[in-house]
Amino acid sequence: MSVADLRTYLAALDAAGQLVRIGREVSPTHELADVAASLARNDVGAALFENVTGSPWPIFAGAVTSHRRAAIALGCEPSEIVERMGEALEPANGVSTVPVDTAAWHDNCVTGDEVDVSQLPVPTHSRGDGGAFITGAVTVTKDPVSGRGNLSYNRMLRMDDRTFGFNLNEWRDVGTFMRNRPDPEAPYPVALAIGLDPAIMIAAGVRTTVDELLIAGALRGQGVEVCRGVTVDIDIPAAAEIVLEGEIRPAERAPEGPLAEFHGYHGEAWNSPTLAITAVSWRDDPVYQTIIPGWYEHIYLGNILPREPLLRRFIRHLDPAADVRIPPYGNGFLAVIQIDRDNPGTPKNLAMAAMTAHINIRNVIVVDRDIDIDDAAEITWALTNRVDWATDTFTVPGAQGHEMDPTADTRGISTKLGVDATYKRERREYGERVAYPAIDLGPYLT
Ligand SMILES: Cc1cc2nc3c(=O)[nH]c(=O)nc-3n(C[C@H](O)[C@H](O)[C@H](O)COP(=O)(O)O)c2cc1C
Repeated sequence: MSVADLRTYLAALDAAGQLVRIGREVSPTHELADVAASLARNDVGAALFENVTGSPWPIFAGAVTSHRRAAIALGCEPSEIVERMGEALEPANGVSTVPVDTAAWHDNCVTGDEVDVSQLPVPTHSRGDGGAFITGAVTVTKDPVSGRGNLSYNRMLRMDDRTFGFNLNEWRDVGTFMRNRPDPEAPYPVALAIGLDPAIMIAAGVRTTVDELLIAGALRGQGVEVCRGVTVDIDIPAAAEIVLEGEIRPAERAPEGPLAEFHGYHGEAWNSPTLAITAVSWRDDPVYQTIIPGWYEHIYLGNILPREPLLRRFIRHLDPAADVRIPPYGNGFLAVIQIDRDNPGTPKNLAMAAMTAHINIRNVIVVDRDIDIDDAAEITWALTNRVDWATDTFTVPGAQGHEMDPTADTRGISTKLGVDATYKRERREYGERVAYPAIDLGPYLT
């Protein structure tokens, strides 16, 4: 089944047994996120909440939280995801958008004084969050200087019937676009697309100077159809379920936050620009989509999918047979490398290579082929039983990391750590590892 928008993706998830439909009434305050987070933690499936208290529309959560689900989204095997992402990230492979005159979200539209975003089913996710946040919208913008488009994620706190607080970190394209205008404080038009083809969701998580819609086109093998906004001069994915248009007001700031962050803590409140909504459009019977903040999908979209391709290229430059993962439980700060150990010094060289591939990678663990790198318990076993901490580790103090890394100072300076958790046969000889095969317990438990 080929996926082209959110609806065909829901059907593909259903067919693969990866969609959990929840008919029971669920509160949008904490309960919805609690359930979706548990489903993601156990990799059970994405969640379609069909009966959310006070919401006229169903809410979808957990679109892409793992390679298994991304494989359904992109129509390939989980083992092919890194390769597919690597190809789509090559600027030369970008596929241009296709302008169209009609969009699915033309079914319904309110503008001006009629806008009332309190009607939108925006959940309050984590108990530490400062309110109801839009987290699953893709922000669509345009560089007023070059005309190039851009996709990004930005947390948005609902403040009143027409206003959100719009979070914008340092060094993001949207901020650069606004600053490069003759009047950086002037209102800046944006569109928010909600309920999307997962290829667009995946592309939006990439930090690049290329229009991410071209990356989505490369992932799909055909250009994304886009339609001009009702009140803004921006090309918006035509198959989106819901579209909000408006203008960021850099000069009108207000407290926004905290929200569960990718690093696993609640961030602080920011004094952020506000976003005034000028139009809300939606398909008939739309599906509202959310991302559970500070949890698997947040990390997977922002830190794993866009980063594993380059990380693997760095590692394989040293060892063509090595495997590497950025596991979601490491919040993007951990890489695990798997090798056939030959030379005693190789694991440390590989760890150094991983640290330099992306600034976020602060901890690197190198394990042998007999360790399942997708199993945190196996990695812990290797750390516990194969590491002499004085000789098998090294640190790089004062290295550049991510500015939001909880161990770093506010400019992202912290200590990187490499751990050689491979078996040192030359140190002491043991026999084979204890291994009992997993068996079907059904017949034994009756
Ligand atoms: C789920 C998710 C939420 C994010 N939330 C924010 C946010 O609130 N503010 C922000 O500045 N960046 C946020 N980011 C990071 C960037 O918006 C995102 O990675 C984007 O691709 C930026 O790339 P660009 O500079 O090329 O536009 C988030 C990323 C993800 C995956």
